[in-house]
Amino acid sequence: MDWGMKNRMARIIKPDTGRAVMLAVDHGYFLGPTTRLEVPRRTIEPLIPYADSLMLTRGVLRSSIDPGSGANVVLRVSGGVSIIGPSLSDEGITTSIKEAIRLNVAGIGLSVFVGTEHERQTLLGLAELVNQGEEYGIPVLAITAVGRELEKRDARFLSLCCRICAELGAHLVKTYYCDDFEKVTESCPVPIVIAGGPKLETELDALEMAYNAVQQGAVGVDMGRNIWQSDYPVPMITAIRAVVHENYKPKEAHDLFRTLKDKEGKKAASAS
Ligand code: 5RP
Repeated sequence: MDWGMKNRMARIIKPDTGRAVMLAVDHGYFLGPTTRLEVPRRTIEPLIPYADSLMLTRGVLRSSIDPGSGANVVLRVSGGVSIIGPSLSDEGITTSIKEAIRLNVAGIGLSVFVGTEHERQTLLGLAELVNQGEEYGIPVLAITAVGRELEKRDARFLSLCCRICAELGAHLVKTYYCDDFEKVTESCPVPIVIAGGPKLETELDALEMAYNAVQQGAVGVDMGRNIWQSDYPVPMITAIRAVVHENYKPKEAHDLFRTLKDKEGKKAASAS
C-alpha cells in the first residue's frame, strides 16, 4: 500500500486501536430530510469531535461542515435514486474522483446491490471506483446489503456480499450485524464496519449490537440513526466510542451514557 493510501486509511481506522467510529449522515441522498437530520449542520456539528470520520455527500459537506472542523470525510459517491422512485438499487456513480481529491477526502463509498436486478451495474461501479481509488491512493468503502435488503440479512447472504466486495478490491466493507457474524468477518479479507440500521428501542440495544460486532471481528461502526436519533446524541456517540475503542462492555458503556446524559440534563436545566 502506498503512503497516501495508508495515510487515508489511518484517518478512517485509528492506528492506535485498529478500530473506527464512522458517523453516517448520508441518509438524505435518497431519503431527503430524514427525522433528526432535517438541518444537517445542527445535527452533525456537535458530533464532529467524537467521530473518527463522517460519511456524507458532497452537498452536505460543502453546505454544512466547516472546512476547519478537522473532520475526516468518507464521501458517498453513489446515488441517483429516491425512496419514492421505482427501484432503490438502480444507483450510479454521482461524484468524480477529481471532486473527491478536491475535497481532500479520506475515502469514498458507494452502495452495491448483490442479488438484485442492478447487481452487475453496481458491482462494476465498485470495480471502476477501486481502479480510480488505487490510482490516486483513495480507499473505497463498499456498502452492501443496506436498505430494503434488510430482510435477507443472515450470515450466508452477508458473507457472500462482503466477500464479493473484497474480491473486487474494496478496501473496507460496510454491512449489517447478524447472528453468526464471525462467519461474515472471517471470510472477508478486508475490514468490516457495521451500519446501525433503524433506531433500536433503547440505547443499550445499539451498544450491545456494536459490542457484539467488534467482538466478532468488525473494526467498528458506520452508524447513523442510533446515534443522532437518540435524545442524547453526544452521550450516545461517546458510549459507542468506549465500546469500539476501549472494549467497554454494553452495560459499562450504558452506564457512561446515562452519566453523560444526566450531566447534559442538569446543564440544560441550570441554563434555562
Ligand atoms: C444508507 C447508508 C447509511 O449510511 C447506513 O445505513 C448507516 O446508517 P444507519 O446506522 O442509520 O443505518 O449507507 O444507504
